[in-house]
Amino acid sequence: MSLPNFRLTLLPKTLIVGGGLVTLLLLLSYGIWLGLGDRALWLSLPLWIGSVLFIQLEIYYRSLEAIYRQDDKLQMILDQQARQDSRQTKDYYQIEALFSIFSLVQLRHPLPPMREWAISPDFAKQLIALIDQHKPESIVEISSGISTVIMGYCLEKLGQGKILSLEHDERFAKISQLNVQNHHLQDIATVVYAPLKPIELNGQTWRWYDLDVLQLPHPLPDRIDLLVIDGPPGDLQHLSRYPALPLLFQALSENGVVIIDDGDRADEQEIVQRWQQEFGLESERILNEKGAFILRRSSPIKPPALAHASSQ
Ligand SMILES: C[S@@+](CC[C@H](N)C(=O)[O-])C[C@H]1O[C@@H](n2cnc3c(N)ncnc32)[C@H](O)[C@@H]1O
Repeated sequence: MSLPNFRLTLLPKTLIVGGGLVTLLLLLSYGIWLGLGDRALWLSLPLWIGSVLFIQLEIYYRSLEAIYRQDDKLQMILDQQARQDSRQTKDYYQIEALFSIFSLVQLRHPLPPMREWAISPDFAKQLIALIDQHKPESIVEISSGISTVIMGYCLEKLGQGKILSLEHDERFAKISQLNVQNHHLQDIATVVYAPLKPIELNGQTWRWYDLDVLQLPHPLPDRIDLLVIDGPPGDLQHLSRYPALPLLFQALSENGVVIIDDGDRADEQEIVQRWQQEFGLESERILNEKGAFILRRSSPIKPPALAHASSQ
């Protein structure tokens, strides 16, 4: 709340009241000097009334200022509290998701930290639900990490399926490969270092994973049941993740599902809109920590909403 500028409006008032008081004081002195006695006192009555009004006005403005200052302080405290509440609510959702994950996945090794660059627990929970629901035999993942490990455990539990994970950064490809080994999932998940290279799409140049590195023994599957898109990084180029579907849609199986992370970003929303138009897909928006979209070919049966989901 902002305080009206009383001091400015007060200045002319002070001049008027002050000037009036001085004039009355002069008149009173003049009256006494002329020997008007009591009448001079009566004549000075407006002076006393004016003084009282002036003092009251000043007290009123000062208390109003104090109230406004208190209001501002209170508003600041309430804003701080609201921010803290929303952080705690977000943290609570992630802890809740972790409980789901750890009750469904029996880890053999600690997981690296989640959130920030890595997926958030609520996205991992979504992946577990999708695998449970669709029982994919072939998962392709664009950008490796914790998602690779968690999905590996899910396929192991399912007793079927393989993951091929593309990683554009050599260092993170090694880290992800090591994670996969630490969790004894190397028979299920393969992380391939696929550096970014320029590719042409509709007359435009993009930087995307070099698919030519996908040779035997780890070729690109000709059938993808679940496509998980979490790379390349958004700041690499405008609509950074757009090439994924133009390049991989033909391999998507009839009941294939696509999930893309970071759905709260404007770029990802535009990408999903373009994919919907270009490939005739239905999208479901997942309102989790970073936002996500699940895309499917049009299907008559809607899957049960897991998180706070809404169809677009
Ligand atoms: C959004 S992250 C991928 C996260 C991955 N899907 C996961 O579950 O952890 C996209 C890319 O960021 C890079 N990356 C991963 N961890 C990182 C870190 N701690 N700092 C900087 N970049 C990182 C990797 O190259 C990765 O392909």
